[in-house]
Amino acid sequence: MIFASLVTILLNTLLVASHSWIDCAKFNMDLKTCDGYSRGYPGRENRDINTVYTHLIQARPSSYPICEKNRQGTNPLQYSTTYPMGCVKPGETIYQTWEQNGHLNNTHPTTIRILYSDQESRGLTNYNQVAQARIAGEMVFATDSNCFDPKNPNSVCYGNWTVPAHFKRKRVYSFVWLWRFDSNPVGEEYSTCFDLYVE
Ligand SMILES: *[C@@H]1O[C@H](CO)[C@@H](O)[C@H](O)[C@H]1NC(C)=O
Ligand SMILES: *[C@@H]1O[C@H](CO)[C@@H](O)[C@H](O)[C@H]1NC(C)=O
Repeated sequence: MIFASLVTILLNTLLVASHSWIDCAKFNMDLKTCDGYSRGYPGRENRDINTVYTHLIQARPSSYPICEKNRQGTNPLQYSTTYPMGCVKPGETIYQTWEQNGHLNNTHPTTIRILYSDQESRGLTNYNQVAQARIAGEMVFATDSNCFDPKNPNSVCYGNWTVPAHFKRKRVYSFVWLWRFDSNPVGEEYSTCFDLYVE
């Protein structure tokens, strides 16, 4: 009982202190502009973005929504002219960005996986599908070598991965950016769901 309360307190503290999500799902490394966003992205100008956009998955649940409930693939895909979906080509290497939020670690960097499913037309919807999901790429969360301004705790950090070459054109594919932070050893992961149109 005491242990359970301590875990709850710890998790609540972490929820305040740690969070991250994709700010740009298709980043243009040459122009430093964003060509595509994640599902339902509220924009950094939204002062509640921490609350609105953090999706914590704790303690490796046997079942739990992989995206926040309003941003599940069963809902309409949420993009706008301000925050459009990215367009890619099969086999293209793309960059993505997020903020490190004070979690840069050069010796033991945490990692991100990009998951997708060939079976589900609107992507993964539950954490219990993670083990069977396909992995499009893996990225390091934050080190001196993948953040633009490593000394700044809010620095933007980036990674790249390659769109699977077997993807069919003129189709939307759905992905999950899954960051295994695990500051709480029982399991502490954060996700962002996003979609890409294959031209
Ligand atoms: C990096 O991660 C390791 C392992 O979790 C931890 O012991 C260390 O304190 C971290 N370093 C920094 C600078 O946070
Ligand atoms: C993608 O990231 C890896 C790991 O940081 C790096 O070695 C590689 O050069 C990057 N690829 C491109 C095309 O920039």
